Amino acid sequence: MATATVPGHVAIIMDGNGRWASKRGRPRWMGHVRGAHTAREIVAHCARAGVQQLTLYAFSSDNWKRPREEVGFLLDLFTSHLDRQLATLIKHGIRLSIIGRRDRLPPALVTAIEHAEARSAQGTRMHLRVAIDYSSRAAITAALTNGETPAAESLLPNVDMVIRTGGERRLSDFLLWECAYAELAFLDVHFPDLSTADVDAVFADFAARERRFGAVGKQPAPAADVVLADA
Ligand code: IPE
Ligand code: IPE
Ligand code: MG
Repeated sequence: MATATVPGHVAIIMDGNGRWASKRGRPRWMGHVRGAHTAREIVAHCARAGVQQLTLYAFSSDNWKRPREEVGFLLDLFTSHLDRQLATLIKHGIRLSIIGRRDRLPPALVTAIEHAEARSAQGTRMHLRVAIDYSSRAAITAALTNGETPAAESLLPNVDMVIRTGGERRLSDFLLWECAYAELAFLDVHFPDLSTADVDAVFADFAARERRFGAVGKQPAPAADVVLADA
């Protein structure tokens, strides 16, 4: 159930899959498979907790620099997961959108994306966005250069809470504009091991923070200040 203290828009940088596998003497792709499993559980948990918007970083535009086999594996994983998860998302009232560039994705993935977006469009419980071939700097540049129809496709509503797993303390080109006043949580746990209890602990920490937005004393989150994609 939604409570006032749960962050409205949560963004997760799902990092550490490869190291999770390497630590166990396994190939990196196994970490991605486990990571996808974890993502499913975290999505369900956030919906139950009352999160309104959840944005997951699955593949950055810089991730094309990885070995061809790993990139191919990830793109196939996204395609099969979209198809397999769709019914569950619809059942739970979750609307799915994919953000990022589509013109470099394999046609089968684009088809799966379009199908999943269309079929889940009526979901009102939570808006799940998955970032694939996403670059925040590219999104901001697009918003600036789109002229009369700005932002609608590229900039999202303000993020309240960012969670990055895997121990790194950086944003790696994720939602730079949207995180202007986001609270940040950097967790050492690798993404496949992220538990619902870890997420609850982050939310408890969020509830205890005093968000001031430049003013004095605790302030409500201000309304978004630019034309934005649909919440
Ligand atoms: C995150 O895990 C998943 C993607 C970036 C696709 P990584 O694959 O970056 O795992 P590490 O950081 O190398 O451990
Ligand atoms: C960020 O993780 C991208 C995703 C989690 C999808 P990376 O593993 O690509 O980030 P860097 O290279 O460590 O900054
Ligand atoms: Mg990484």
